[in-house]
Amino acid sequence: MLRGKNVVLGVTGGIAAYKACEIISGLKKIGANIDVIMTKSAAEFITPYTFQSLTGNPAILNMFESPKYWDMEHISLAQKSDILLIAPATANIMGKVANGIADDMLTTTIMASNKPVVFAPAMNTKMYENPVVQKNMETLIARGYHIIPPKGGMLACGDEGQGKLQDVTIILEELQKIYQKELKTEKKDLEGLKFLVTAGPTREIIDPVRFLSNHSTGKMGYEIAKAIVKRGGRVTLISGPTSLRAPEGVDLVLVETAEEMFEAVKKAYPQCDILIKSAAVSDYRPKIREAQKVKKESQEEEMQLTLVRNPDILLELGKMKKPGNIHVGFAAETENIVEHGQEKIQKKNLDFIVANDVTEEGAGFAHNTNIVHFIDKNGDHSKTEKVEKSAIAHEILDKVLLLK
Ligand SMILES: Cc1cc2nc3c(=O)[nH]c(=O)nc-3n(C[C@H](O)[C@H](O)[C@H](O)COP(=O)(O)O)c2cc1C
Repeated sequence: MLRGKNVVLGVTGGIAAYKACEIISGLKKIGANIDVIMTKSAAEFITPYTFQSLTGNPAILNMFESPKYWDMEHISLAQKSDILLIAPATANIMGKVANGIADDMLTTTIMASNKPVVFAPAMNTKMYENPVVQKNMETLIARGYHIIPPKGGMLACGDEGQGKLQDVTIILEELQKIYQKELKTEKKDLEGLKFLVTAGPTREIIDPVRFLSNHSTGKMGYEIAKAIVKRGGRVTLISGPTSLRAPEGVDLVLVETAEEMFEAVKKAYPQCDILIKSAAVSDYRPKIREAQKVKKESQEEEMQLTLVRNPDILLELGKMKKPGNIHVGFAAETENIVEHGQEKIQKKNLDFIVANDVTEEGAGFAHNTNIVHFIDKNGDHSKTEKVEKSAIAHEILDKVLLLK
């Protein structure tokens, strides 16, 4: 897949910088052409001559030395490349890119690029777990960059935990998968299709300061909406309360309760061909919405809250489904995933269901990754590896296209 393609390999200043040599050798086996850009710190660990010898191309370190190519290097490499891989990626480079800093050749090239950029971080576990590093990675993912997470194990500093550069074979596999996915988005294969996507939790109001809700963050639905726009489709995203920024190009409708979501969905549905319902809608709401805050003094040791059923949006829309429409449901399960999925498909007139076992490590609410089961109405069932939610979003859209 990357045969004959141009890969820019950014090498930054970490202990794992030497592993860039193994990455180059893997890329060469695939048949890719490689240009290395290294940071000044990386040159403390490994010399440009090593990379020059391995790639056959000059390794670029200094933005202001006489150009090795006639055109401006940071622009020319950004344009020439088909994909950029930053491996190993320091906490520093991810922080800089997440915050728009372009103060050396590598950050400037990344900034000037409209090609996929993939970071393979490697660092001490405490650095990796530092909330600021995690936040920077979330920002990078939200902006469309890719991260190949590090693995766990004994680190060079003696600490044990996550932070080791991912295995080179896995990095190369992921890189090729990302490249293939991005090619698809260039094709604009969803042009002319109109999607309705729901995302996030709902809030069921108890009184002016309290509500019932669930752990949904909306990440999966927002990734789906982003992928639809990238691939040329149109999307109305009906979202419960989340902290996420709406992807550019979507028609966003914000709602709070299940009843509001039902009204918004009914209004948007007739203009859409494909419904993807990833929202975690509360099944019940308090029977009475108190106008004033419920006071503790006025209560007994126990208090009763009477709940009533919310509309079953997926079931209701299943009744409205027209020939040619495609309905995709989601299910968060803790047991008997396939059986429950098949029942839901029948009951709600779905084409397929994306189910996840929320008890599995790295799956379900709040994670950037997920592991899902695809169960379709013909009884076919497959399960993904633990992958980024953006990758699952594309897989869902691929499956929708197969039904069109
Ligand atoms: C011996 C040594 C090892 C280091 N290893 C790492 C590392 O594995 N990951 C990391 O993020 N930073 C590491 N650092 C810190 C970076 O080198 C430092 O943050 C530097 O500013 C990174 O610059 P760059 O991102 O421009 O390459 C290390 C520093 C030293 C001195």
